Amino acid sequence: MLTHNRFLSLKVFILLLLVYKTHSKLNLKYGILRRAPNLAARNETISFRPRTKYDVQKTMRLMFYKNNTKTLEASAFDEDYLQRGSGCSPSDKFAIVLHGWIQSCADEWSLALIDRLSYYRGGCVICIDYSLIASTSYMRLYTNFENITGAIVTIILTLIKNGFDVKRGYMFGFSFGGQLVSAVGRSLAPQHMIQSIDTCDMAGPGFDPIAVDHSKAGKHVQCFHSSRDKGTFVYSCHRNIMLGSCGLAQPSVASQLHLGSHGLCVDIYINAFDYPFYALNTTPSECIAFQKVAKIPADYTVGYEENFDNRVTGQIFVPTSLHYPYNLSKKELKFLAGKK
Ligand SMILES: *[C@@H]1O[C@H](CO)[C@@H](O)[C@H](O)[C@H]1NC(C)=O
Ligand SMILES: *[C@@H]1O[C@H](CO)[C@@H](O)[C@H](O)[C@H]1NC(C)=O
Ligand SMILES: *[C@@H]1O[C@H](CO)[C@@H](O)[C@H](O)[C@H]1NC(C)=O
Ligand SMILES: *[C@@H]1O[C@H](CO)[C@@H](O)[C@H](O)[C@H]1NC(C)=O
Repeated sequence: MLTHNRFLSLKVFILLLLVYKTHSKLNLKYGILRRAPNLAARNETISFRPRTKYDVQKTMRLMFYKNNTKTLEASAFDEDYLQRGSGCSPSDKFAIVLHGWIQSCADEWSLALIDRLSYYRGGCVICIDYSLIASTSYMRLYTNFENITGAIVTIILTLIKNGFDVKRGYMFGFSFGGQLVSAVGRSLAPQHMIQSIDTCDMAGPGFDPIAVDHSKAGKHVQCFHSSRDKGTFVYSCHRNIMLGSCGLAQPSVASQLHLGSHGLCVDIYINAFDYPFYALNTTPSECIAFQKVAKIPADYTVGYEENFDNRVTGQIFVPTSLHYPYNLSKKELKFLAGKK
């Protein structure tokens, strides 16, 4: 009995050691692990709470686009922007775009996405520029995570107050912006459930490995994953689309220099409006399925989906190619699938 107990405690000890080691490794990698964002965990009926104004709002700019034309740029603090000729009407669909660290609404990809959304989705596109806070250290940006989230929640509640309908709402976030979009959605839910949310390589540093249920952020939440170094390992969206090699790396990093696997996610998402990115109907042998693998209809392609197909949820593997626009033909995909 004694030996058994000793054996058991040794096992527990080793297990703890392993857990501790993994954690300290992650802590080293991210440095800032312990400050878990807990905004969404709080159970608050926010729509009945007086809307809070955050200081960070003063540094945030709202860029309104209608038919791919910038109609208005306003401070996020004033809240009278909807009366100032944005051209956006409450009966319009609305799309919110959120950039990442060291980025802005003037970035090439932001403008390209606004263009594709205007063309395929229509309605009003609002890019929320927080580049003033995002242009310094990641640590400083991360420290402001909850306040930026609160500020964006306030902005969306203002839209709702003015008659905009979350059923016609869509949010997109890249990297840090992906984490923001999820936290904003979870703060608004369940009273104001945003219809659809797409994220691109949601940031991992500072957020992993905290098990957040991103599927609670909106009615349909699909997350694209493209890198192992900057992207999250939390795959809890309704759909988790694993781009390239198991969602961890893109083969095209070799063919161009300015974008890593992380940055390629937005390029692929934007290209997916115009080019077919076919999904594999099986898990590639070299990939691990962390989640239920989706049942894929024949010739299923991923990307922005105007009407979310509820039959397709879970993990989806989508290989990408070496060269722009990074899609693979059906034939090449068959070859890849047959190789294993
Ligand atoms: C949240 O609060 C509401 C109202 O107080 C309550 O009805 C509900 O059960 C709570 N939900 C959770 C998950 O605690
Ligand atoms: C949208 O913009 C395009 C190109 O600038 C133009 O041809 C089209 O008429 C515009 N549509 C509306 C509804 O304003
Ligand atoms: C967040 O906002 C509150 C209220 O405006 C402020 O007191 C606090 O210092 C802010 N936090 C950070 C990290 O700026
Ligand atoms: C990408 O899609 C286009 C349009 O369907 C197709 O013509 C092209 O062959 C695809 N790219 C590759 C590398 O197969």
